[in-house]
Amino acid sequence: MAVISSAVVIYNNSSPSTDTRNAIDIRFNDGMATRTVDNSLHLNNATHTTQEVSSYGWEFSIVNRTTGFLDQTMDLIHKFLNLVAPSFTFFSFVFLLPPIYFFNFFLSILRSVFSENLAGKVVVITGASSGIGEHLAYEYGRRGARLALTARREKSLQEIADRARDLGSPDVIVIRADVSKVDDCRRLVEETVNHFGRLDHLVNNAGINTVCMFEDAPPDMSLFKAIMDTNFWGSVYTTRFAVPHLKNSKGKIVVMSSAASWMNDPRTSVYNASKAALTAFFDTLRIELGSEVKITIVTPGFIESEITQGKFLQRDGNMEVQQDMRDVQVSSIPVGSASGCAQAIVNSASKGDRYLTQPSWFRMTYLWKLFFPELVEWSYRLSHFSRPGAPHQQAPSKKILDFTGLKNVVYPSSIQSPEIKTD
Ligand SMILES: NC(=O)c1ccc[n+]([C@@H]2O[C@H](COP(=O)([O-])OP(=O)(O)OC[C@H]3O[C@@H](n4cnc5c(N)ncnc54)[C@H](OP(=O)(O)O)[C@@H]3O)[C@@H](O)[C@H]2O)c1
Repeated sequence: MAVISSAVVIYNNSSPSTDTRNAIDIRFNDGMATRTVDNSLHLNNATHTTQEVSSYGWEFSIVNRTTGFLDQTMDLIHKFLNLVAPSFTFFSFVFLLPPIYFFNFFLSILRSVFSENLAGKVVVITGASSGIGEHLAYEYGRRGARLALTARREKSLQEIADRARDLGSPDVIVIRADVSKVDDCRRLVEETVNHFGRLDHLVNNAGINTVCMFEDAPPDMSLFKAIMDTNFWGSVYTTRFAVPHLKNSKGKIVVMSSAASWMNDPRTSVYNASKAALTAFFDTLRIELGSEVKITIVTPGFIESEITQGKFLQRDGNMEVQQDMRDVQVSSIPVGSASGCAQAIVNSASKGDRYLTQPSWFRMTYLWKLFFPELVEWSYRLSHFSRPGAPHQQAPSKKILDFTGLKNVVYPSSIQSPEIKTD
């Protein structure tokens, strides 16, 4: 057997392979020939992978390769599906959409009539110290639910708990917890169940945002990891500990995703990704849990809160209010009220809806993104960036807002002040 230190391997296949797997015929420049199946070479009484052959420094070039019978069949199947799937989908839409829409409309009326009575139900709300979470506490409280309110600012939570009691909640407890820590998530569920003896709704609401171009992010990615830790993992951890209790009560999960999961504003790439990840995760979990636990995924547009006040996570790990940057990002898009949003969320959860977008007109942006993605990208580029070298405050999105004075019309007064709660 020749010892091959430098060889040209020629993949030469003019004859069809009888093997059902991919086969490659090889001829070395010393005349030796062999055949490989699934990238294994049988040389010098030993088996080598083609990667090993490369690492030995043996040069080779591919002239031809034979596709096995199974692969040829798979290719044909995919070609067939490429042709048939679009027309099948089109006709399914034409025939299925009207009856499915009618059926869903009928179901939604039924669900409204038989919507859940929340009196005495036990609800955990994460991120209840401000914004939408705070108003969810008031809305659940008004309907007589018992509440476990959690966030990191305990003083704010205590004040909100008092108000929720005044509005009608028979029992409210406050649990200081950081949802980015798995032990805190376990503890907040355990303390709730120890106190109330059950759990009916888990509202995964806690969330933070950062406004930073991807290329300007610190290379260690700590800024972006912090967003994922709170927005995505915080909801996943809490859900993991809550699910057994929710199964016992045939309970519900509310998830605060965002319209940003499809309307991908620049400078918030990781926030947008965290929200898209939440939607994908909870859509999957809904299939796994079946009818045992219902899941409502909420995708708000812009709602009054500390985030729309301009509270963003900074590179040093602190939260800071940057209203100029908020103006660039939100521009002249009308910002919805937190109380209206909370009311719509509790209604949807009580009915067992799968999805809720609030304000509801924001749903149309999904169609824009689906059918005109180029237009959406182009408008973001045009409106959200200033000329190279100019400060971001000169972005057209902010100039329009300032020039027209629209801020006083489309922004609620609560988000015009830079003051946020501190503990
Ligand atoms: N406002 C909007 O336009 C909008 C749009 C789409 C989606 N959302 C989502 O709605 C949810 C609520 O936000 P919001 O707009 O109401 O803003 P917000 O007023 O800033 O409320 C965020 C809440 O999350 C809590 N939180 C933040 N990090 C936390 C952590 N590590 N552990 C525990 N709690 C934490 C905050 O409390 P502490 O700081 O006291 O911990 C606060 O109570 C978020 O998930 C947000 O992404 C908001």
